[in-house]
Amino acid sequence: TLTVALDAPSKPISRELFGIFFEDLNYAADGGLYAELLQNRSFEYSATEQANWGPFSFWDLVKTGDGDGQLGLGDARPVHVNNPHYLLLTVLEPGSGVGISNQGFDRIPLVAGQAYEASFWAYQAFMGRKWRGTDEEQRKPMPVTLRLETSDGRVLAEARVEVSGRTWTRHAVTLTPTQSVPDARFVLLAHEQGALALDVVSLFPRDTFKGRPNGLRRDLAQTIADLKPRFVRFPGGCLVHGPGIRHYYDWKDSIGPIEQRRAQRNSWGYHQTLGLGYLEYFQFCEDLGAIPVPVVTAGVCCQHAGDSPNRGQEGLPLEEMPGYIQDVLDLVEWANGPATSPWGAKRAAGGHPAPFGLKYLGVGNEDAITPIFKERFQMIYDVLKERHPEIVVIGTSGPFPDGEDFDLGWAFARDLKLPMVDEHYYRPPQWFWDNLARYDSYDRRGPKVYVGEYAAHDEGRRNTLRSALAEAAYLTSLERNGDVVMLASYAPLLSRRGHTQWTPDMIYFDATNVFPSLNHTVQSLFGRFAGDAAVPTTLARSNGAKLAVSAVRDGRTGDLIVKIVNGDDTPQPLAVRLDGARKLPATAERTVFGGAPADTANTDDAPPAVVPHTDTLPLSPGFSYDAPANSLTILRIATR
Ligand code: AHR
Repeated sequence: TLTVALDAPSKPISRELFGIFFEDLNYAADGGLYAELLQNRSFEYSATEQANWGPFSFWDLVKTGDGDGQLGLGDARPVHVNNPHYLLLTVLEPGSGVGISNQGFDRIPLVAGQAYEASFWAYQAFMGRKWRGTDEEQRKPMPVTLRLETSDGRVLAEARVEVSGRTWTRHAVTLTPTQSVPDARFVLLAHEQGALALDVVSLFPRDTFKGRPNGLRRDLAQTIADLKPRFVRFPGGCLVHGPGIRHYYDWKDSIGPIEQRRAQRNSWGYHQTLGLGYLEYFQFCEDLGAIPVPVVTAGVCCQHAGDSPNRGQEGLPLEEMPGYIQDVLDLVEWANGPATSPWGAKRAAGGHPAPFGLKYLGVGNEDAITPIFKERFQMIYDVLKERHPEIVVIGTSGPFPDGEDFDLGWAFARDLKLPMVDEHYYRPPQWFWDNLARYDSYDRRGPKVYVGEYAAHDEGRRNTLRSALAEAAYLTSLERNGDVVMLASYAPLLSRRGHTQWTPDMIYFDATNVFPSLNHTVQSLFGRFAGDAAVPTTLARSNGAKLAVSAVRDGRTGDLIVKIVNGDDTPQPLAVRLDGARKLPATAERTVFGGAPADTANTDDAPPAVVPHTDTLPLSPGFSYDAPANSLTILRIATR
């Protein structure tokens, strides 16, 4: 029997319970959500990222007609100190053009008739002893062609510009291809004898999410928007620590004009341009109607990094901590300060004069709770508490609920009276069913909880219906405990086919397609059917039955939303009682997701294996309901 006690007081729950966690792994940012189509646009790839990478990776020298020339690497006069390398293109014989080509991330997909902005920074360099003409001739502007071509060299779009002078200048043209192709290449050709310095060579579709320049891939961003996330945590995960103590993700490197951002290797062993940086993350939050939850390191490196006596942990030298803490304070000012404040002015210069309204700030990620960590965390927390009492600081419980740090992390959080603690768990589906009561007994007077990363890891780490329903069951328990669990986010969010480093993920994609998993469907249903008050329920079930329920009230509409998850391979008959309803409509809107074998999973080459169906269900204060095998049922009832 499932009883929903409409006559008992309901309990306010977090309005921000369901959100997302974005981390740049699996090519989630560059080559993923960030819509840049060229790879290694600033010639900053290096062998420290991948053994066979270097400044020329993903670029080729192109010689047409009888053209001849060569490529070199410059670092003497960079476009910006944060962007130290650039390309030197020397044209010895122009022929029909000498230049460079780029094939993007696994080739460049183009849509006929759509506009693409091709741009680059350049100046005319000296050729030195190779120059055979007069000085005056060498100063003549250099004609440059920008092209989109098919893989066999057919021109689909072309535009010309002239580069003149010896100072870095940005050039931009619009290219509109005449044909759709999945595998184009971008070509830049110079047409006179001479030399060019080139940097930040870029190709962007105009059609980005919400039309933002330097924006996001529309299809992927829309699939994320479909989740109706109430918050976005970024930029990681392990990524916030970076590869090594002074290589942490520095938010200050990620704002301002893109040619001034400092690219670096990310924690996942590849290159991050930081073109998708803090400005874009905050802007994305605003576009989604979600609140931002940035995470900064606690001044320590990643605990997964090694096996030293400090459990892999190294800290910033204490004398560097005041400078680091100032950077954290500056982040709050950048996000929330008036446009007249020093850092608020930088936000305004980036195109967002209004404050973003930052409310939460994560400090640390899955850290080993060592003296090194505790000392630095407390230094940061004490200053934030004093200077910004309005900011909810989220600490960490350390890695995983059964790890040695977990209790230490919580004890530390209680000692400091932290407002909120971030817990992570990647566990088999059965763990989620076994832990439905996890938060029932959490101390309501202690720190609140952010379930910052979780996913049910089924056999083979596949995105099965079994895993999605285990998560659905668990989310009902979070709704019931939404007075102590404030935020929750599945992880990881995105994964590019061919570059997947971690499974399972919520959304897979390639250059032109998006493949949401069944776990994405569950998340989007909870986003769509969220509430802001939990209505008490009791569930009498036979021993071992995999049933989970929640009832929430949606304050905007007054609707009651009842969720029933059946994780068994057989239907579960339920007697449902809606006790004390003042007004009950004749029918409920019913959405059912499931009813397939638990092993079912989506595949890339077929439509989704399971889709939600909505119909109406006759209602009375007491009615019988057969929860289908392996299913999530959601009843929306207009009780007022
Ligand atoms: O989500 C992938 C990784 O899992 C995150 O970076 C880290 O926080 C966790 O260990």
